[in-house]
Amino acid sequence: MNEQFKAVRVSEHVYWVGAVDWAVRDFHGYSTDRGSSYNAYLVMADAVTLIDTVKAPFKNELLSRIASVIDPRDIRYIVSNHSEMDHSGCLADIWDIVRPEKVFASVMGAKALLEHFHLDREIVPVKDGESLSLGNVELRFIETRMLHWPDSMFTYLGEDQLLFSQDAFGMHLASGERFADEIDDGVLEYEAAKYYANILLPYSPLVAKLLARVDSLGLTIETIGPDHGPIWRKDVQRIVDWYARWCVQKPTLKALVVYDTMWQSTAAMARAIGEGLVESGASARLMPLASTHRSQVATEILDAGALIVGTPTLNNNIFPTVADVLTYLKGLRPRNLIGAAFGSYGWSGDGVAQVRDALNQMKIEPIGEDIKIKYVPDDETLARCRSLGKLVAERLEEICAHE
Ligand code: FEO
Repeated sequence: MNEQFKAVRVSEHVYWVGAVDWAVRDFHGYSTDRGSSYNAYLVMADAVTLIDTVKAPFKNELLSRIASVIDPRDIRYIVSNHSEMDHSGCLADIWDIVRPEKVFASVMGAKALLEHFHLDREIVPVKDGESLSLGNVELRFIETRMLHWPDSMFTYLGEDQLLFSQDAFGMHLASGERFADEIDDGVLEYEAAKYYANILLPYSPLVAKLLARVDSLGLTIETIGPDHGPIWRKDVQRIVDWYARWCVQKPTLKALVVYDTMWQSTAAMARAIGEGLVESGASARLMPLASTHRSQVATEILDAGALIVGTPTLNNNIFPTVADVLTYLKGLRPRNLIGAAFGSYGWSGDGVAQVRDALNQMKIEPIGEDIKIKYVPDDETLARCRSLGKLVAERLEEICAHE
């Protein structure tokens, strides 16, 4: 099968030549319900340059889109902004086909690419602030270490006022449309938030610094070309403002009640806590883990003020789905949360204490007494659960009033 894919013009010198992955539903543990794209860009300068490649199975789609503009062997340089394999998986193959004069990456990126692919080749390391002349236009490199890998960098094309931002400002969204202004606003904000929460959240303090730094560089940015999802060509400030909001994680009146259940006892407690939250003015989100993916929980936590977690005790342990989501959230390092633990048990009841330990490790401010009940909650226990919900809502009110 010889499929024909076309490049899409982005700006005076740039074409999008990436690949759309309509089928992917899991991205290293992150549920990608709307698929994704792996964006690569062709800079049609005197020295034609490819910015990033794509995930290995999409090599032919990349080559076909490049070939709709030029012979791929006319590419003089390749720049790798990020060495994670969704952007570098076919780099070695493309290198063999294109035979570029040089391949560039950040200092850490050059090392990471060689280590990933066990290559015995030279990658030219570029430093923060360095420029590369392509003849009629120039690329400028901006190191963005730990956003979200040690190798990550941005590349700026001043002549087109275009920032190639690798994972930053991206989202997992497969679409026929290439530009954000062609996509429904609600979908854009949800998927951008989901991406931020699941990929960038642990590095929020660095995001705040990076936004300030890019601002101080005084670059005019009319277009942002991320490595996933649509390209921002109108009102780029919108996604920048979202990042400025998300990296602060200002608490709100939203409280998540995340739980699983064996015989509906922990579920009944969760519902009672939810009622208490709502009665006292909080916005409750019950998230039963039998039907909620860990990455949805991460997305909701981005603008939440409280995390209340319920678990049954199974064989002296926390329930596996609850352990899964707590492990995932701990790695994402959410901030500014209050919380509580609860659950039903049969004989040992160790699960609730294990949830409490995890919440403590996440530096979540404890509210009230954790609630642990044997077998099935009675009316008195459910009233305690409602009271816990009210207590959390009242503390959230106090916190939000002081923000
Ligand atoms: Fe899209 Fe960090 O790779």
